[in-house]
Amino acid sequence: MSKNLSQLARRQGIENTLFQKLVITDAADKSTNLTQQRTALAKEFLMGEAVVHGAASFYDFLDDGTSHNNKQHNANKKAYVCNGSSCLCANTQGTIKEKLDKEFGSDNVGHVICLGRCAENSAFQISNHNFSGTDIDNLAILANEPSTASNEHYQVRCTLTEPILTAEILDVAKYYQLFITLSEQFNTPEKQHKLLDKLVESGLRGRGGAGFPTGIKWRSCLIEENTEKYIVCNADEGDAGAFSDRYLLEQRPHAVLFGMLMAGFLTGAKTGVLYIRAEYPAAIKQTEQAISEFEALNLTNDFCFKIIKGAGAYICGEETALLRSIEGQRPVVSVRPPFPTQSGLFGCPTVVNNVETFGSIHFIFSNLSDTQNSGVTKYKNLGNGKSTGSKLLSLDGAFKYSGLIEVAMGTPLVDVIKLAGGFARELKALHIGGPLGGVVPLSEIDKLTIDFESFAENGFLLGHASIIGIPNAMKMINYIAHLFEFTALESCGKCYPCQIGSVRGQEMFEQAISGEQALNHELLNDLLDTMQLGSLCALGGGVPLPIQNILQYFEAELMPYFIHSELVKGVQS
Ligand SMILES: Cc1cc2nc3c(=O)[nH]c(=O)nc-3n(C[C@H](O)[C@H](O)[C@H](O)COP(=O)(O)O)c2cc1C
Ligand code: SF4
Repeated sequence: MSKNLSQLARRQGIENTLFQKLVITDAADKSTNLTQQRTALAKEFLMGEAVVHGAASFYDFLDDGTSHNNKQHNANKKAYVCNGSSCLCANTQGTIKEKLDKEFGSDNVGHVICLGRCAENSAFQISNHNFSGTDIDNLAILANEPSTASNEHYQVRCTLTEPILTAEILDVAKYYQLFITLSEQFNTPEKQHKLLDKLVESGLRGRGGAGFPTGIKWRSCLIEENTEKYIVCNADEGDAGAFSDRYLLEQRPHAVLFGMLMAGFLTGAKTGVLYIRAEYPAAIKQTEQAISEFEALNLTNDFCFKIIKGAGAYICGEETALLRSIEGQRPVVSVRPPFPTQSGLFGCPTVVNNVETFGSIHFIFSNLSDTQNSGVTKYKNLGNGKSTGSKLLSLDGAFKYSGLIEVAMGTPLVDVIKLAGGFARELKALHIGGPLGGVVPLSEIDKLTIDFESFAENGFLLGHASIIGIPNAMKMINYIAHLFEFTALESCGKCYPCQIGSVRGQEMFEQAISGEQALNHELLNDLLDTMQLGSLCALGGGVPLPIQNILQYFEAELMPYFIHSELVKGVQS
């Protein structure tokens, strides 16, 4: 079924996608009945009406056609309050919500996870403009003039002698000259394989969380025999606490476009699609501007870029859900194989990479003729041999110098904390790597270095390397309930362990908090095992990790919530 729908979507192509039409229709004319508009779209795209309504009803920011008095309804609100984990830990949501409610009326205020303003917290959105920090003090002005500039400020630091991701791009034309040089030099399939060997040699691994080797991914797309292929940039950075992709798209968009251009050249793809989440309006604007600048250079007729704006669904960060979303299908996770490089967008071979992965390519391919000083050599010499190169870390408002730090892979976590000036408040743990990443108690911090291996060996996960400080005041039982609630909200519903398990987990913890029903150790273990082992993707499969970390390291705090205060022992990571 989904294959057929992909083929139907392919007929219209990337320039006319059902998904973008849904987004545009929803934001625009409210005079025509929404159901009629969607029925017309179903006809235009030769899809069943249920497919179109089913897809539209999935997204937070699309009208689901239900009454606007429905409390769950979250589309087309005047203002949104960020309820991501970082703003939760900073305890800023209550005040912001209260002030927005007063200004706009509570029915006109929605919620969003998350705006990527985690360095400052107190984050909110008005009419597609994001604000944070002290901006709330100007609410009266912002409510009338939402395009007023935000006072946002965050630190961007780099500990490398030669910055990779944070390097400034001073001359755009000169920057793309590397593409011209390489495309002339590596102009046969054999030579392209040689260039891919260099990428493999650099050790670059995907920065979206799973750490898959990028050179191997690109080669598996190159060897597919198909004249239609795609490069997709996954800019759906939905992990609360992460804002490094936002930074790259807002401040270094040409680095990302360059990486996609090279991926196109090395795989035979002619279209690059950037799927950018709607929560990042400035990133969308800056990337559009960068694409215009790229086009003005007239470098190639062989590659074009297209931006697809998301509509509020965390699961669209999972690559197969993301591809279905672009096609206008309900963004539900697909079973792999086939992998996207075999059958991806519209059923065609597709490379999906994270923003930061693409952002590393220019450095790696620089200076290739000088083996000693080439980008490849310098990149692979950073890190521990398995995790190479540099990593951008997002440090939230719990750090004195909150913001971004680019460090070499292998850097001790304690050094990062020192560089960040220490903590701005009393913390008991760090939540690293997004909602599916581990919760690291302060006692374990000195064991960790910033690389995939160190985190995995110690029972945590580097993920996309966002770091949220969990304050002493945060009750861990509440934090677990928050993680289950998030998963229940964002589950795509494809598999039961996640769809039902996350709701059951949320209920269990809410009942324990209210005192209605104490936690049963055996039942909880069963639930976490079922989700971990039985879920199709890393949303349901991953959320048990931070919960197990908390159960293991904060046993004493949680004990009173269990039946007869039974020991939590046996619940291990
Ligand atoms: C629930 C879930 C959410 C994800 N969110 C993102 C995301 O926001 N950005 C991202 O690049 N990868 C995300 N991923 C990983 C992607 O599926 C995919 O592995 C990645 O985009 C591949 O790019 P990379 O090899 O450059 O890391 C997510 C995965 C899961 C299971
Ligand atoms: S684990 Fe959750 S999000 Fe992933 S496929 Fe299953 S239901 Fe969907």
